[in-house]
Amino acid sequence: MSPRPPRRVERSAAPDGRPAHEQPRWRQDFPVDWGDADYVSRRDLVKFLVLTSAAFVAGQLWMVARSFLQRGKPAPEARAVAALDELPVGGAKTFEYPEGSTPRLLVRTAAREFVAYDQACTHLLCPVVPAVAEGKLHCPCHNGWFDLASGRPVAGPPQRSLPRVLVELRGSTVYATGVEEGEA
Ligand code: FES
Repeated sequence: MSPRPPRRVERSAAPDGRPAHEQPRWRQDFPVDWGDADYVSRRDLVKFLVLTSAAFVAGQLWMVARSFLQRGKPAPEARAVAALDELPVGGAKTFEYPEGSTPRLLVRTAAREFVAYDQACTHLLCPVVPAVAEGKLHCPCHNGWFDLASGRPVAGPPQRSLPRVLVELRGSTVYATGVEEGEA
């Protein structure tokens, strides 16, 4: 195979004759020469990576701040979140507890047994989904897994347990009665 010819480097002069770094931003972002266009692409990629990383860091800081703020709060009042016959064994539904919270996930694990967790994965906040047959909760974003009985991370990137919502079956109604923050 013959080697690729070297890329042709052109240097088009701007109409006003000033050097490239003194040109207006729009002209720097839409250069005439191919070599400069490649440079813009790399620069934009770096900008994108920096902004994405900053968003991830902000998300993690927000989670830490939220759990810190919630620590001192009194337990919210018990609240009915599902009727017993609303879900089959293995079924699940989302709910808010307390009202206005981030989505919580209620899973019926046996005839009279339920578990509930915050639905946001402790890695990067994707929603987890139940995998009841495996006894786990799955986060499809980066293949993270949590134990369904305890909420502890068992595989993949998550390092912290899911915050648990305490639930109680009273007669034929499931009540949420409190929230336990996930263990580190
Ligand atoms: S967001 Fe859940 S594993 Fe990454």
